[in-house]
Order: sequence, then structure tokens, then C-alpha cells
Amino acid sequence: MFGNTLYVEKIQHALEQSNFPATPDNLYDPVRYMLSLSGKRIRPLLVLLGADLFNIENIDDALPASLAIEYFHNFSLVHDDIMDNAPLRRGKEAVHKKWNESVAILSGDALLVKAYEQLAFVKVEYIPELLRIFSQLAIEVCEGQQYDMDFESIDSITGDQYIEMIRLKTSVLLGGALEMGAIIANATLVDRKHINNFGVNLGIAFQLQDDILDVYGDPSTFGKQIAGDIIANKKTILYILLKSKLEQEDTQEFEDLLTNKAITSDEKITRMKNLYQKYHVVQEAGELKGKYTHLAYESLQKVNVTEPQKKELYSLADNLMRRTQ
Ligand code: IPE
Ligand code: IPE
Ligand code: MG
Ligand code: MG
Ligand code: MG
Repeated sequence: MFGNTLYVEKIQHALEQSNFPATPDNLYDPVRYMLSLSGKRIRPLLVLLGADLFNIENIDDALPASLAIEYFHNFSLVHDDIMDNAPLRRGKEAVHKKWNESVAILSGDALLVKAYEQLAFVKVEYIPELLRIFSQLAIEVCEGQQYDMDFESIDSITGDQYIEMIRLKTSVLLGGALEMGAIIANATLVDRKHINNFGVNLGIAFQLQDDILDVYGDPSTFGKQIAGDIIANKKTILYILLKSKLEQEDTQEFEDLLTNKAITSDEKITRMKNLYQKYHVVQEAGELKGKYTHLAYESLQKVNVTEPQKKELYSLADNLMRRTQ
């Protein structure tokens, strides 16, 4: 488990209490299924830690926003797995494989609606601002996901374009989760900005690690199809770095791997990993991850609360950087 056990258990308990109707079962069974799988619950934890950081009196006041964030995240995963043609999620069959794509689209939509509904359960004075922040991050995730899909068929993606794409598809959700917690704990606008920046930088490092684990993760703990990003020609950090370092002698090999449909997936993965190794791209991706983690720490330093109060967030960031799942 990552970070504060008490809070993660609280989130887990609240998720288990979510009461979805029995029917139509093809709408709600996938929702229950998805939420019952063993996600790390990092984003809802960030809502609670954001509230805790600014000394919220009753942590339960932040629970609906925390659930909203986890529902939203699960919605995005259900749809992401259709878009990425991913067979596995959290070590189990993805919803669109276990049922079908139509079911995955609609049950994903239901999760998004349920996310918004949770915001109605927050103390009324916070609702307009939460709605604004939540809607902003949600539309940015859509923007990031669209860039991610568009980039599959564009060869010339720069490092900056890649970072902007992952900032949108992944990082704004982590930043927004923390900021929503901060809002409910009456943090100042300046502190809200700093804690959001902490989450965004952490989120960029998190997605860099996800790109590395996609290829080098242990299938038994990572819970997703290994090297799915290579199979789908995803513009991951490994791809971007490799392309920028590739020498003449390997350009044909790289091109073949991307375009030659006669090459089997297994062979494509092996040969692409050989190129990654030759050009030391994993080390370099790791260094970039370190850079964004450091930027995250710098943002956290600026938050106007005592250093001991920040301990949980520092250690969560630390754990996430070394995660294998
Ligand atoms: C997966 O997020 C999606 C990414 C942004 C990489 P997590 O790795 O947090 O997924 P769960 O919720 O723990 O399954
Ligand atoms: C995740 O990107 C972004 C969202 C789900 C919004 P990925 O496609 O890399 O996530 P995984 O690897 O499938 O979890
Ligand atoms: Mg994706
Ligand atoms: Mg995916
Ligand atoms: Mg991934």
C-alpha cells in the first residue's frame, strides 16, 4: 500500500459502500467490477492528504471529493483500455474484454456521472469552486488523451510535446486532487497553486515511471500487458528518447519495427528493447523522472505549512518513484 494506511482504508471502505443498483446488470456490474479491482488509490489519497496538509478539522468532509476523483480515474481507465486496445487492467481482464466495447463505453460514462454526483455531497460553500477545478482537470484529461491518440500516427513528436501530453492526460488529475483537498481545508489561493504544482510535477514523474514499467515491469505486479506501448507504437518517453539519439545505422531497423506488419509482437518487443538498451534510454528516462520529482519537492517546499506536516507527501512521492506496480 502507498502512503497513509488509515486514509487508504477509509477510501477503500467508502468505495465498498458505494451502492449501485442491481440492474441493468450490464451497466452496473462493470462499474462494481472496476472499483473492486486492486487499484493503488493514489489520487483519492491525494485529496485526503491535501486536506490534511491544511489541517482540516474532519477528514470525512473531504471524502466525497476523494471518491469523485477515484470514480473519475476509473472512468478514464475503462475508456483508455478501449482506446489502447489493452486486454489487462489491475491484473484482470479489462472491462471491454470481459464484456464488450459498448458496455465499457456506457459503464465508463456512468462512472463519470457518479463522479460528478459525489461533488454534490461536499459542504455547499465549496461546491462551485470544486466544480470549476474538477471540470477543468476533466476536460484537460480528455485533451491529453486525444493528443496521446493523435501522437500514435505522428513520427515527429518532440520532448516538449510529449511532456505537455502527459501533463494533460495524467498530471493535472494528481494536481487537481490535492488542490480539491486544499480547497475543502480553506487553504489560501497561493498555497493551492503550490500544492497543485507539486501534484503536476509528481504526475509527470509518475507517468514517466509508468512508461518505463510498461516495458520493464514485472507482469505479476504491474497488472497490465507488458510492452503494450511498443505494440501500439505509443509515443512514450522511451520512444522519444530513442528517436532523438538514434544513429544512421539503426534508423532502418527502427522504421521497420514501427511499420512492418509482418513482424510479430514478440519479435517487435525484443528488437525494440535491444535498441532501448543500446542507447541507454531507460537510464535517461530515469534521470528525467528524477528531475520532475525534484521539481515536485521544490513546489512542496513553497507551501506555507510546517515541514513536519509535509512528511507524508514527501514520503509518498518517494515511494511512487520506486514503485513497481
Ligand atoms: C494508471 O494509474 C494510469 C496512469 C496514469 C498511468 P495507476 O497506476 O494509478 O492505476 P491504479 O489506479 O493504481 O490501477
Ligand atoms: C493513462 O495513460 C492516462 C489515462 C488513463 C487518462 P496510459 O494509457 O499510459 O495508462 P495505462 O498504462 O493504460 O494505465
Ligand atoms: Mg492510454
Ligand atoms: Mg493505457
Ligand atoms: Mg501506460
